[in-house]
Amino acid sequence: MAATISFARGVPSADLLPIAELGAAVQRALAKDAAGMLLYGDPMGYLPLRTWVGDRYGYDPAGVFVTNGSLQGFALLAELLFAGSGGRAAVEAPTYDRTILTLKRFGATVDSYTLLEDGLDLAALEQSIADGRTPGLVYVIPNFQNPAGNVTTRRVRERLVALAAEHGFWIFEDDPYGDLRFRGEDEPRMLDLDTAGRVIYSTSFTKTIAPGLRAGVLLLPEELRKGMAYIANQTYIGAVHFAHGTVAEYCESGDFDRGLARVRPLLEQRKDALVAALDAHLGDRFQYRAPEGGYFLWGRLAGVDCDALLPKAVAAGVPFVKGSDFYADGRGGDELRLAFSAVKPEDMDEGIARLAALL
Ligand SMILES: Cc1ncc(COP(=O)(O)O)c(C=O)c1O
Repeated sequence: MAATISFARGVPSADLLPIAELGAAVQRALAKDAAGMLLYGDPMGYLPLRTWVGDRYGYDPAGVFVTNGSLQGFALLAELLFAGSGGRAAVEAPTYDRTILTLKRFGATVDSYTLLEDGLDLAALEQSIADGRTPGLVYVIPNFQNPAGNVTTRRVRERLVALAAEHGFWIFEDDPYGDLRFRGEDEPRMLDLDTAGRVIYSTSFTKTIAPGLRAGVLLLPEELRKGMAYIANQTYIGAVHFAHGTVAEYCESGDFDRGLARVRPLLEQRKDALVAALDAHLGDRFQYRAPEGGYFLWGRLAGVDCDALLPKAVAAGVPFVKGSDFYADGRGGDELRLAFSAVKPEDMDEGIARLAALL
C-alpha cells in the first residue's frame, strides 16, 4: 500500500515519463548542435524548437517565444503589461492559483468572473466593460481547465475574441492541457479564431513530455515581441537551451506524438479509476463532472469545510488542493481539486477511501 497517495500535484507520475526517449534525444541533439545548446542564445528561445512549434501551429517562428516553463512566460508578460502601471486583469473563477498570485505580484487588479459550464461568464464581463472596467488582459484556460476540468465552448471563444477586437484587450489563452483529450472533439483555438491579433497563445511541454524540462511556449503578436525579448534578456539572458535542444530533437523525431498517443489512454484509465472510487466511497456527497481530458477532477463536498479537511487529509496521506486556493475572492470553501495524473489506478480506491473516512 502506498504511504502517500497524492491528489495534490498536477504532474505525471514517474512511470509516465519518456525517460529512454529523452536520453536518446539529448545524445542526438548534442551531436547535432552542442554549441547552440551549451552557449548563451537568443532571448526568444532556442531556434530549432521555435521552428518546430511554428510549423505545428502555423505561426511565424519570429513570434514563437520559448521560456523556462509557461509560468515564466506568463510572469514576463505580466511584468511587461502591469509592472509600474497597474491595470485590470480578468480571470475565471476558479482559476490556476499561480496566475492569481503572479498578476497580483506585478500590480494588476484581479477581477474574477465565474466559470460557468460553457466558459467564463460573458454577461458579467460585458457588464464590467459597459461600466468602464474594461480589463487589459483576459486570462482563460480553455481546455480541461485547471482546476475545474471545463472546456470553453466555441460560442464563448468566438465572443471573447470579438470582444477583444472591439475593446482592445489581450486574451491569454493558456493551453497546457489541450493535447491531452481522451474523449470528444476539440474546440477551435482562440488563436485561430482571432483576426485582430489580440490572442497570446500559451502551451507547455510540462504536461506533454515532462515538467523538469522547463519548456513553455508563447505565441506572441508582433506588438509584444520586442518588449518580451527585452525582459527575458534582462531576467535570464537566454532560456535553458540545453533542455530545449533536447525537446526539439524529441519533437522532430516523432516521439512527441507517439508520447501523447501512449499517455492519453493511461490518463483516461486514471480518471476512470478515480470516478469509480468517488462513486463507491462518496456517492452523492461529492458533486462533480468527469473531465474529457487533462489532469484534474473538481468537485464540491456540500457542507464540508475543505480548508479544515485538508490538514487531516495530509495526515492521512491523501493531500489534495483546497478549492479556496483557486479563487481571488474567497469562494470555494466546500470545493476541492483532485489531480488524477500522478495516482496509479490501483491506488485510487484506497486514496478515496481514506478521504471518505475523514468525513
Ligand atoms: C493552467 C496552467 N498554466 C501554467 C502552468 C505552468 O506550467 P509550466 O510547468 O509550463 O510552467 C500550469 C501548471 O500546472 C497550469 O496548470
